[in-house]
Amino acid sequence: MKHSSFFVFPFVSRETPASVFRKNCHAPLKKVLNPITFVVYYFYYRNTKCEEIIVAKIVAIVNQKGGVGKTTTCVNLAAAVAQTGKRVLLCDFDPQANATSGMGVDKTVSNGVYDVIINGVETAKAIVSTPYGDVLPSSKALAGAGVEMINLPDRQFLLKQALRQVAEQYDYIFIDCPPSLELLTLNALCAANSLLVPVQGEYFALEGLSDLMNTVRLVRRSMNPQLQIEGVLLTMFDGRTNLSIQVAQEIKRFFPGKVYATVIPRNVRLSEAPSHGKPICGYDRTCRGAEAYAALAVEFLRKNA
Ligand SMILES: Nc1ncnc2c1ncn2[C@@H]1O[C@H](COP(=O)(O)OP(=O)(O)OP(=O)(O)O)[C@@H](O)[C@H]1O
Ligand SMILES: [Mg+2]
Repeated sequence: MKHSSFFVFPFVSRETPASVFRKNCHAPLKKVLNPITFVVYYFYYRNTKCEEIIVAKIVAIVNQKGGVGKTTTCVNLAAAVAQTGKRVLLCDFDPQANATSGMGVDKTVSNGVYDVIINGVETAKAIVSTPYGDVLPSSKALAGAGVEMINLPDRQFLLKQALRQVAEQYDYIFIDCPPSLELLTLNALCAANSLLVPVQGEYFALEGLSDLMNTVRLVRRSMNPQLQIEGVLLTMFDGRTNLSIQVAQEIKRFFPGKVYATVIPRNVRLSEAPSHGKPICGYDRTCRGAEAYAALAVEFLRKNA
């Protein structure tokens, strides 16, 4: 995720074969290397190390509890990050397809991500561009994918394989997960570098989080050892109630150092925006909800700088 500039080849940002070469090449050696050797190194690093470096960070928005603000967070964080100039893809991996329609994409036009993972359609062909970032849409067909995937080889890695095809074209890919810990969510956890957990500030907030963490441990042990916790986000937060404050304290104890300083307040404009097919930054950029998601994007990007 680090940026660098380079003067000889026409690359302007991120790690390039040349910057990797410069880092790895011992100084006195540089002086004696002639241009031909340089070109050989360039192609060597382009075909090896750099393939691993120039890829998007994939963040899964996960909580098996329903209605906690996963989709609202995915849509509005993706849009707010895209507004800063980053290249963003929102992958809707929930058959409810709320993130798809929330980004203004018609969920009945194509089967989107379902066709990619089940029918082998190229990922790039299923992506739709919007003013708020690219979307890999979902549709209700995805509801059947859990069963259809069962007999496929590497069934837990199908989304990872799909996203790998386009990962070099983005800085961040956000995956909106369904409210369960079954095969679709498992695919998201295997594809992701990290998971962001929205938690609603209410009495039952902590219920289920230990199941989620057990699943994360299992995935780390056998399928995706790199999986990190990106952060925990308090959503629909009402700082005036003692209950919200107590729940926030409990969650900070459960996830030390991982809870975002930004909290998302309960804000009616956030619940209105999806019916207009817009993220909050396109619907009402001055409301409290929009300001909160813009602040979350800043905090998210600062942690990933
Ligand atoms: N901060 C907020 N203020 C007010 N309403 C909100 C807020 N966040 C989410 N909502 C509303 O709460 C409902 C549930 O939110 P959302 O769909 O984002 O949750 P979810 O976790 O994705 O749900 P599911 O588990 O069904 O996928 C929606 O109607 C949404 O508009
Ligand atoms: Mg949702």
